[in-house]
Amino acid sequence: MQHLIDIASLNSASVLQLFSRTDSLRRQMPPQPLAGTAMVNLFYEASTRTRVALELAGRRLGMDVINVQSQSSSATKGESLIDTFHNLCAMGIRLFCLRHPQVGAPHQLAEVAPDGVHIINAGDGVHAHPTQALLDAYTLREALGEVSGKTIVIAGDLRHSRVARSNIALLNMLGAAEIRLASPEAMKIRPLPPGNLVEFDDLDSAMPGADAVMMLRIQKERISELEIPHGDAYYRQWGLNEKRLALAGADCKVLHPGPVNRGVEIASSVLDGPQSLVLQQVRFGVYVRMAVMLEMLSAQSPSNQEC
Ligand code: CP
Repeated sequence: MQHLIDIASLNSASVLQLFSRTDSLRRQMPPQPLAGTAMVNLFYEASTRTRVALELAGRRLGMDVINVQSQSSSATKGESLIDTFHNLCAMGIRLFCLRHPQVGAPHQLAEVAPDGVHIINAGDGVHAHPTQALLDAYTLREALGEVSGKTIVIAGDLRHSRVARSNIALLNMLGAAEIRLASPEAMKIRPLPPGNLVEFDDLDSAMPGADAVMMLRIQKERISELEIPHGDAYYRQWGLNEKRLALAGADCKVLHPGPVNRGVEIASSVLDGPQSLVLQQVRFGVYVRMAVMLEMLSAQSPSNQEC
């Protein structure tokens, strides 16, 4: 794997190989196989989980990890993303984990990346968040045995969610029986991606028979203020509470990529309840990202040859 831009960078065999690597890493950590390699978390949007998990993953593999946040970088002085990339590359950075509000920004870097320089998309606009989808699918596989044949509900603000788009693509690749998309009209995905998708206009109808439900927050940063629904009204209609979860039964698992807005898209009692896998997702996210980094970097020399 040269780059991980979206789920199209993968196929079912490479995903299963990543999951197998993840299993191995959870059993036994290798002794710093990527020592001497430098990576950067280059973030133009806020993050807690993804940035910290990438940093932990890189450090546990022995890498030198640099964090660059756009608010405190020379981006504030007008430097372009591509110029920043070339400058960091010249310092010997071999792995770029990029989060950016603009769709396609990681692809732009991949197009100009020299041999031996790798890009992980840590989320670009509404387009893709492939490591999130990988950790979600890995978590589902751990909880349900496999993803193939399962019915998964994805609910909430689908339209503005890169997590939803990457999950739809990956769950389809892994053979999910049905992906149910439940959202208000203004938050439906358009155009609808391919796959075994069924759309619902309310959450209650989507729940019976579901093996798992993935709740999404309202992506306020991508919606004009006038279009943001009122929290209480939204919760009454779309929030996952215990009564709604009971429609799917006691075996239905609950996921959320975070950050969570308690009492808006999900009740605290559900988030903190026995069916919730939310903190498992976060825990597995470190190992899954280690597996991605090893897949990309373990075959190449750690020496910092010049770009
Ligand atoms: N799930 C996720 O991307 O969370 P952060 O924005 O905190 O990285």
